[in-house]
Amino acid sequence: MDHVKLVVTSTFGLEAVIKRELQDLGFDKFSVVDGRIEFDALVADIPRLNIHLRSADRVLVKLGEFPAMDFGELFDRTKELPWEEWITPDAKLTVVGKCVRSQLESVRSSQSIAHKAVIERLKSKFNIDWLSGTGPEYTIQVAILKDVAHLTLDTSGAGLHKRGYRVSTGEVPIRENLAAAMVQLTFWKKDRLLMDPMCGSGTILIEAAMIARNMAPGLKRVFDAEHWPVVKRSFWDDARAKAVAMILPSGGLKILGYDIDPERIKDARANAKKAGVADDITFECKDINDLWIHEAHGIVISNPPYGVKLGSLKELTPIYITIHNMFKNKPGWSLYILTADGRFPDFFKRAKPDRVRKLFNGTIEVNYYQYHGERPREGQVVA
Ligand SMILES: C[S@@+](CC[C@H](N)C(=O)[O-])C[C@H]1O[C@@H](n2cnc3c(N)ncnc32)[C@H](O)[C@@H]1O
Repeated sequence: MDHVKLVVTSTFGLEAVIKRELQDLGFDKFSVVDGRIEFDALVADIPRLNIHLRSADRVLVKLGEFPAMDFGELFDRTKELPWEEWITPDAKLTVVGKCVRSQLESVRSSQSIAHKAVIERLKSKFNIDWLSGTGPEYTIQVAILKDVAHLTLDTSGAGLHKRGYRVSTGEVPIRENLAAAMVQLTFWKKDRLLMDPMCGSGTILIEAAMIARNMAPGLKRVFDAEHWPVVKRSFWDDARAKAVAMILPSGGLKILGYDIDPERIKDARANAKKAGVADDITFECKDINDLWIHEAHGIVISNPPYGVKLGSLKELTPIYITIHNMFKNKPGWSLYILTADGRFPDFFKRAKPDRVRKLFNGTIEVNYYQYHGERPREGQVVA
């Protein structure tokens, strides 16, 4: 078996960014429905995708899709799928599920029916009485969406946002894959000044530095499918060696991070070091009210305290006023602000946002306000 159908999953609103990442990795012809991007690939692509995708949640192998109006249908059709091509007789199996707008609305029962069907299939194919559970981990997803069951195997294991560089964070770090998407939704290029004046544990800037240096985000972690015999060890070794060879040397980046809390700056430095980008970012403990912008051009990407978890709405107002005062006469600066607080544009009055994207930080609905600044002229030194 060489060819597979893969499903890359995404948080709401990030499908287009992930599609672009997939195109950069050489894939085309996708079907995109509600956070699921489906396409044809080779088994050998599974390591490459897990290692390189920055904004996605997971990479799943699609085993089957069929209408499922009752549990009998779900059991029979799940049992017909060729699970033995992927799963070993000593597998440690977990089944997770979701049911959305479907007749079958009990997630727990759907999981248990699918689990039973897969076990039955494996027992009969391998001629065994039980699965020992001492071998590799396999997580099966049964997603019943509008009465259609989608059966997949999760190749990633922990979600792809877990890069393995986080030593420590504050209370509300942004997810790494959302931070990577935020950077990729801007016009920032690596020769331009980038600043996060409320950088917390530094996630946005660390992701930006990794993008600028062509550093694959999954190089410092392991994935469930690394332990599956069908995705050969040589595929992983090859994908890792190629990803390492693509990394650009440090130097020349202008990335600045500030935070009022010295503990967060300590976290940010430790995280950047572990990610391998400590030399690319300058972190400093500073209140945004004491920050002075000298440069005519630059880009701010930030998520200020939200009001949902951190800080009351009243406490946030002075921060917005400071941001307004800092940039009202700086038309060469672009601002990209992620917040759940819909009042931000009322305070930042330089112009209306050029674009507002609805996104999710975990379960919190947020807006990504994009204000495009004037670009530096050709040949202009941009500080
Ligand atoms: C939502 S968190 C940022 C999280 C960050 N993106 C991360 O991944 O860890 C907001 C940050 O703003 C910082 N902050 C609050 N008031 C500030 C101020 N006046 N000046 C600078 N930073 C401030 C907080 O310390 C907090 O770390």
